[in-house]
Amino acid sequence: MNALAATSRNFRNAARILGLDAKIEKSLLIPFREIKVECTIPKDDGSLVSYVGFRVQHDNARGPMKGGIRYHPEVDPDEVNALAQLMTWKTAVADIPYGGAKGGIGCTPRELSKSELERLTRVFTQKIHDLIGTHTDVPAPDMGTNAQTMAWILDEYSKFHGHSPAVVTGKPIDLGGSLGREAATGRGVVFGTEALLAEYGKSVKDLTFVIQGFGNVGSWAARLIHERGGKVIAVSDITGAIKNPNGIDITELIKYKENTGSLLNFSGGDNMDPNELLVHECDVLIPSALGGVLNRFNPFTNKLTAFLGVSYPMFCIINSLPSPLSFSPFIDKRGSFLIALI
Ligand SMILES: NC(=O)c1ccc[n+]([C@@H]2O[C@H](COP(=O)([O-])OP(=O)(O)OC[C@H]3O[C@@H](n4cnc5c(N)ncnc54)[C@H](O)[C@@H]3O)[C@@H](O)[C@H]2O)c1
Repeated sequence: MNALAATSRNFRNAARILGLDAKIEKSLLIPFREIKVECTIPKDDGSLVSYVGFRVQHDNARGPMKGGIRYHPEVDPDEVNALAQLMTWKTAVADIPYGGAKGGIGCTPRELSKSELERLTRVFTQKIHDLIGTHTDVPAPDMGTNAQTMAWILDEYSKFHGHSPAVVTGKPIDLGGSLGREAATGRGVVFGTEALLAEYGKSVKDLTFVIQGFGNVGSWAARLIHERGGKVIAVSDITGAIKNPNGIDITELIKYKENTGSLLNFSGGDNMDPNELLVHECDVLIPSALGGVLNRFNPFTNKLTAFLGVSYPMFCIINSLPSPLSFSPFIDKRGSFLIALI
């Protein structure tokens, strides 16, 4: 089941529980606007390359639409649609006066130079500038994008509309960004985990954590867990995975990754098979890369099922996409918890 089918199914289930009128249910599943643009840029070697960019504006009933922009090779219209829909539910559940949107470009950002990324971002902005805006649709960073990406969008947008710092969130502080924004999502993951642990008289201290993804969200979550005395015993990113049963020194790992661009061969841990990460025994598993990694088609489901039988496993799903609902029953059966931060 693809991301859109899973997200829509979850919404239909929720609508049924809420007793939502069938017409409202149907209209809420249809996005307000779907934008697809071709972004052609010169590469540094002078050749031309083209990428497809999307912006899906799902719903603005509660306020301007809001949602991240993702740069990833697997970005496709259905995924962006699903993520835009989830943004509508997210702002509504948090009672923030915004709607939902999401965008993305199908590209591999680490294979592009900084100037190529800048050109791509500026061309994308040129193509969608008339359809975004402070009172219309406000983009933000997501996977593969960051404060620098937002600064380029802000600058390009301002060429058409005048200085408009509020057109994006997650921009650099010097350009009007908010203090704490960079850490906010990872911090939210830790707050959510702490709140649930507190219900059971536990705390992050001395528990073991496995984190998939060591970008903005994963590395901030790791840093805050480390500061609180939790043991991060395995982490992975696109370059590979490392483990240390005694706990990884996250401060040192962040420095190492900044210097080498990789987690591999870090002296404070051992390299491990990244596929083993999701089934590595731990108290809390934090998948902070792509959504949908825990599903019945995962080749490691059997091991994962066994893993779920350990004493206090807990999943903290921080990706915007929830794992398919069909996963929940056997999580529930084993007394594990799924914190789905949509
Ligand atoms: N940044 C935010 O504020 C924010 C807000 C809401 C939700 N999210 C969600 O959190 C997740 C992570 O976002 P981010 O901003 O940290 O992105 P990021 O680009 O900063 O980091 C992503 C990390 O995942 C790693 N990764 C990619 N593919 C992987 C794979 N197959 N196995 C292991 N690691 C892999 C990358 O190497 C990188 O370390 C995304 O699903 C995003 O939608 C982010």
